[in-house]
Parts: sequence; structure tokens; C-alpha cells
Amino acid sequence: MNRVLVLTGGGDCPGLNAVLRAIVKRASRERNWEVVGSYQAFDGVMREPTEIKILDENAVAGIHVQGGTILGTTNRGGPFAWPVKKQDGSLEHLDRSDELIRKLEHLGIDAVINIGGDGSQRISQKLYEKGVNIIGVPKTIDNDLSFTDFTFGFQTAVQTATEAVDKLVTTAASHNRILILEVMGRYAGWIALHAAVAGGAEVCLIPEIPYDVNKVLERLRKRFSGGKGFANIVIAEGAHPRGGEMVYQNEGKEKKSGKARLGGVALQLKEDLKEAGCEGEIRETVLGHLQRGGTPIAYDRILATQFGVKAFEMVLERKFGEMVAYKHPDVISVPIKLVVQKYNLVDKQSYLIRTARGIGISFGDE
Ligand code: F6P
Repeated sequence: MNRVLVLTGGGDCPGLNAVLRAIVKRASRERNWEVVGSYQAFDGVMREPTEIKILDENAVAGIHVQGGTILGTTNRGGPFAWPVKKQDGSLEHLDRSDELIRKLEHLGIDAVINIGGDGSQRISQKLYEKGVNIIGVPKTIDNDLSFTDFTFGFQTAVQTATEAVDKLVTTAASHNRILILEVMGRYAGWIALHAAVAGGAEVCLIPEIPYDVNKVLERLRKRFSGGKGFANIVIAEGAHPRGGEMVYQNEGKEKKSGKARLGGVALQLKEDLKEAGCEGEIRETVLGHLQRGGTPIAYDRILATQFGVKAFEMVLERKFGEMVAYKHPDVISVPIKLVVQKYNLVDKQSYLIRTARGIGISFGDE
């Protein structure tokens, strides 16, 4: 019997369970393959006793509609930077990858499918370079992984963000207010851009187009006359003013150790607008982890299912060191080492940006 280990790493996102189900279902069509799941990324393999479980068709029945991941996940540490508490309470990070590889051998693992974002795929690449038979599956609501048109989870996050804009529009209109919605996306503005177009915001601020608060104000003023009017702004958590910095929730130790969490830009924008002379009443909403939770929409279930089937077929074809990717209309594979070299960011010249500008959405730059 051959064994493939599957794991989900990094922040969760809608569609992870659909990938797991597809891998197990596809594997069950082969006579000599068994799927084993590791709890919370590689932690399950590393723990003593190990926390791994055989995933058969019963274990994954119906889970494609569930949010989160039945395997659990973590976005801290990993085999190359295992967090260990020192006596003084501070953390040090140890490379335990050799130990992991020995454990994989001991457990009779022939191949690994690592479902995760850029951090997880960096781990995949390093393990591949150390001889592990590994396949990557791209996941993230941020849609920031390169070489794939979309990652699963993104469209569900866009749907959630769009529904939030829809709701904010009605309350903004009722109160003649300016409402700012802060969405996730890290260094990419994909969620903000899509939700702004779908929801009909007046202003969309994304990291790829640094803004000028006075230009934002100009656009807002056009929406008000005689004190009447309303406006909606969608701002990506990584957006920043021209020449300014991104806003982090944790400016201290965590930022220095690369564990920085973005957040707070909506409040910052509200203060900057007031300082620039904005007369309107402003309220801000941070959508946060609502974008990561809940059931995946049909699009993401389908994409995730395609990714799962493809990942297992790549195991059969021994396409190790490669990641599943969607290039419309096909699902292909690309070397992970290329994927981890750059982020997929919004192209300022893209047709969606032109479309947004074409319907009067301001990016605060002109
Ligand atoms: O990468 C996915 C993501 O949700 C980002 O959009 C966000 O910046 C980050 O993860 C939040 O991470 P955490 O799980 O640490 O809150």
C-alpha cells in the first residue's frame, strides 16, 4: 500500500475541506493508495504521539460544504522554524526538518500534498530540495499566489465582502454618511477591488496604488451637495498613502520577527480624512475573519475539487516539486520554486482597474 500524507497549513480559507474530499475520493479509485491526514499542518507528524489519521471516503463524506479544515491548521512556525520557548520566556526557532523527514519515512509516507499559501509553499520547496516527494496546492483568500488565475477561497471572501458593502450602502444612504470598509488581502488588493466593483463603492484603496487623501476627499465631496449624499469606501488592509507606510496591529516584537499582522487602516483613513477637512460623518467597519470563515460558494468548491483531483494525479505522475495551478480553462502544474519568487498583485493597467475607473471608482491617485 502506498501512503500520501495531506495537510492544511497557514490561515484557513473556504474550500480546504473540498480539496481534502477530492483527494480522498480520487485516491480511492486506485487500489493501492491510502490517504493520511496530519493535524495542524506538519505539527501532527512532529508531535509525540503523532496526530495523524487515515482519511477514507467516510471521513470526508459531505465535508465540501463545510468551512475551515477538518485537519486544523496553523500559521505559526513550521519544520524549518519550530518555535521553542526559552527559559527566559522568549521564543527561538529551530530547524527540525531532518527529524520531520525521518518521521515521514518511519510512517511509510511516499508522497505529501501540502495545501497552503506562500509560507506553506516555501516550506514545500525546501522539503522538496531535501528529497521529500511533495506537491503543493495553492490556497488563500488573498489570491496573491502567482502562476494561478485564482486560489480557492478568494471568491467566497469576495462574496462576503460584497455583501458587507451592500449592507453598508443602505445605512450610509440613510444617514448621509461616509462608510469605510476594511477588508483583508495582505499586500494585494484583490478582495477590495472585486468587492468595490461588485458592491458599487465610490472609492477603492489598494496597496498597489498608493493614495493621496486629498484626492479621496475630492471624490467624496462630489457625492455630497448641501450636506446630503453618502459614500462608501473599500480599503484593503495593506493600502497606504503615497510615501506612507502600511498600518500594523502589532508594531512591536512580532513585526520584527516577520509575524506582523496588518489592520487598522480604516481608522487611520478616517482620521486622515478628518484632518484633511472632511465635513461628512465617517464610520469604519473592519470585516476581519468573517472573510475566512463559513461555507465556500459553488465556484470555490468546484475549483478546490479540481485542485484536489489534480494534486493526487500529480502524485501518480510523480510531478514532485510542483504546485497545482488554474490557468483558465485548464488546471496545470508549475514548479513551486517559481511560485514562491513573487506575489500575484493587482496590475494597475488591468481591465478590471480600467473598468472600476470607467464607472467612476476613485483609487485616490488622480
Ligand atoms: O493570508 C490570509 C489572511 O487572512 C490575510 O488576509 C490576513 O492579513 C492574515 O491572513 C491574518 O492572519 P491571522 O490568521 O494571523 O489573523
